[in-house]
Amino acid sequence: MSTPPISSNVVWHKATVTRARREAQNGHRGAIIWFTGLSGSGKSTLAHAVEETLYQKGCRTFVLDGDNVRHGLCGDLGFSTEDRIENIRRVGEMAKLYMEAGVIVLTAFISPYREDRDRVRSMVAAGDFIEIYCDAGIAICESRDVKGMYKKARAGQIPDFTGISSPYEVPESPELDVDTGAAALDACVRQVVGEMIQRGIVAA
Ligand code: ADX
Repeated sequence: MSTPPISSNVVWHKATVTRARREAQNGHRGAIIWFTGLSGSGKSTLAHAVEETLYQKGCRTFVLDGDNVRHGLCGDLGFSTEDRIENIRRVGEMAKLYMEAGVIVLTAFISPYREDRDRVRSMVAAGDFIEIYCDAGIAICESRDVKGMYKKARAGQIPDFTGISSPYEVPESPELDVDTGAAALDACVRQVVGEMIQRGIVAA
């Protein structure tokens, strides 16, 4: 795995308001809750629904969503392999910053490559990165076709479309596998929040 780039002649400046102090003030840990899955598998829906529950518990949270981030920070990137790698690299760095700010950051990116997800995992301490596979197969995602993109991809109008003309590598050992293809949204939310409680990220 390659080391991240560092500019020349830069020196790290340590904060006095540390992550630990922020977490003590917030009453919960910072963490990266990384949702991965096909387009239309329910990543964003689940991330926002989990965020709503956590927000109501008084937690500090933020959702980083693929379509939204590609309107700004990653708006210069397309969907080639190289661009997807760079997308996940930037998002991983951003998620880490949020986590260091004491926030529970929920990310909703297809993040199709195992190596890219593992690279983000390796950037933070064990237990800080919780990978959640939104387990909905291509047939279900395509039948939902919420954004009409599968239809266009099948018609050859969208190149390199994940699951059709570009690969998706299913996680081998995610912290959680959620059946977003069949289970009700509130059941999926309970599963994710339950996992976070069990891992000591938030209190019961
Ligand atoms: S990732 O592969 O780099 O992680 P990301 O999550 O940021 O993808 O963006 C995926 C979203 O972009 C999809 O939900 C869909 O709305 C849109 N999109 C546009 N073109 C493609 C494509 N070729 N493959 C997949 N998603 C695409």
